[in-house]
Order: sequence, then structure tokens, then C-alpha cells
Amino acid sequence: MTKQTVLVVGASRGLGFALAEEWLRLGWHVIATTRGRSDELSELADGFPGSFEVETVDINDASGVRALHDRLKDRRLDVLFVNAGIARAIEESPATASEGDFLDMMLTNAFSPVRAAEILRDLVPTGGTIAIMTSELGSITNANGGWQLYSSSKAALNMLMKGYAAKTVADGHTLLLVAPGWVRTEMGGSEATLSIEESIPLVVEMIADNKGKPGLRYVDRFNQELPW
Ligand SMILES: NC(=O)c1ccc[n+]([C@@H]2O[C@H](COP(=O)([O-])OP(=O)(O)OC[C@H]3O[C@@H](n4cnc5c(N)ncnc54)[C@H](OP(=O)(O)O)[C@@H]3O)[C@@H](O)[C@H]2O)c1
Repeated sequence: MTKQTVLVVGASRGLGFALAEEWLRLGWHVIATTRGRSDELSELADGFPGSFEVETVDINDASGVRALHDRLKDRRLDVLFVNAGIARAIEESPATASEGDFLDMMLTNAFSPVRAAEILRDLVPTGGTIAIMTSELGSITNANGGWQLYSSSKAALNMLMKGYAAKTVADGHTLLLVAPGWVRTEMGGSEATLSIEESIPLVVEMIADNKGKPGLRYVDRFNQELPW
């Protein structure tokens, strides 16, 4: 039987690395991207010869994403997972933050992931899945002011995906905005409530549970719908 293939964009460390590792463990063929050299990814590749490829791309570089598309143009992706994201100025508000930090988050967390989905979508056949890592903090309904600027970038991501979903119904893709919980990574920090092992296997299981169900859902790791 042909192995299923997943492309994880932004897999050098943290949740993206764990996603790549989990799909490898489950016997998938994994293509993982990094911006620079990642010794962790190279080591992982050594453990799964023939099942793992490492690509290089910065999602903020449109021509780089197009070049990645061209390199993969003969491939079929069962799952495209755009994980890349940044958090800056988490304690700040518009009056105190640097405009640059806010614009960087809007670009990396909202605009670039959806642009990557648009550029790469024809590698995903009908019935396949495009998932993007958002956050529980992207919910406008549940917002309480925490991580205000970051939350706004994830809400913008959710909105951009609404538009993307409306325009690509004919693709027949399962579209998932994934909220992984608050996880101990470089971004989540040491105070976060979950270990990577408590989040990522459930995220991967949730993606499998949504296979073949076209349309857009904003969901947590337990496959529960979140309020927009
Ligand atoms: N941790 C949490 O509690 C939590 C909760 C909700 C949502 N999330 C979301 O989950 C995702 C992963 O977070 P994390 O906690 O694993 O963060 P992390 O440890 O800081 O890792 C972020 C990853 O994104 C990559 N990345 C950043 N900017 C990129 C760009 N322009 N192009 C390509 N890759 C880029 C990083 O690559 P480099 O190594 O090259 O920087 C790294 O692999 C993010 O989207 C984040 O917003 C995290």
C-alpha cells in the first residue's frame, strides 16, 4: 500500500517538529520544512531513511513558497499542515507595542499561512486535508485580553481562512484551523499547561478523524468546535 504523505511547514522545533515525528511514527511519508539548518530534523531523518525529506522555506517569502511548490509538483499530499508562527510583544497593547512586532505577526501568522495554502493547494487531491495552526486565542468570542496582539493575528488568520474556504469549495478539501492547547515550547513557555506529548498525538488523531469531511472547521485537539 502507498504510504500517506504529509507536508509540515515550519517543523524545525516545537509543535511542528513533534507533528513530523508523530506522523513518521505512524508510518507516513513526511516532508518537513525548516528555514535554516536544523540538526534535530537531520537526526530524525537518520532514523527514518526513505520516509523523510527536509525542505527549506520561509513562509514570508512568496517566491520561496512557489519554488517549494515547483519542487513538489509531481507529488500528492494527503495532508498539508502549515504550522509556522511567531509570538512577539505578548504583554503589549497597540499603545505600547512596536508596530513592527504587530506587522510581523500579521504577516507570519495570518497572511503567509493562507498564501502558502493557496500556492500549495493543487498538491492536495480532492478528499485531502489542509490544516493551519491557529490558537484558542484566535477566538473573538472567548477573547479576554491575553496576548492581545498575537490573538488578533490568529483571529485574522481564521478570517482569511473563511474567505479561502468560500473560494475553494470545489477543491473538496477538509480545511482545519487547529488549536493545540497551551503547550510548553519556546513560544508557549515553561508555564504552559500541556507537554508536547499531551497535545500533538491528539492533534494528529483529530486530523485523521476529519479525513474526507470537506469544509472548514475551527477545532481543538479533542475535535471540539471552537466559537469564532
Ligand atoms: N505553544 C503553544 O502553546 C501554542 C498554542 C497555540 C498555537 N500555537 C501555534 O503553534 C505553532 C507552533 O508553535 P510552537 O509553540 O511550536 O512555537 P515555536 O517553538 O516558537 O516554533 C515555531 C516554528 O515556526 C517556525 N517559523 C516561524 N516563522 C517562520 C517563517 N517565517 N517561515 C517558516 N517557519 C517559520 C519556526 O522556525 P525557526 O526555527 O526557523 O524559527 C519554528 O519551527 C505556531 O503557529 C503557534 O502560533 C502554539
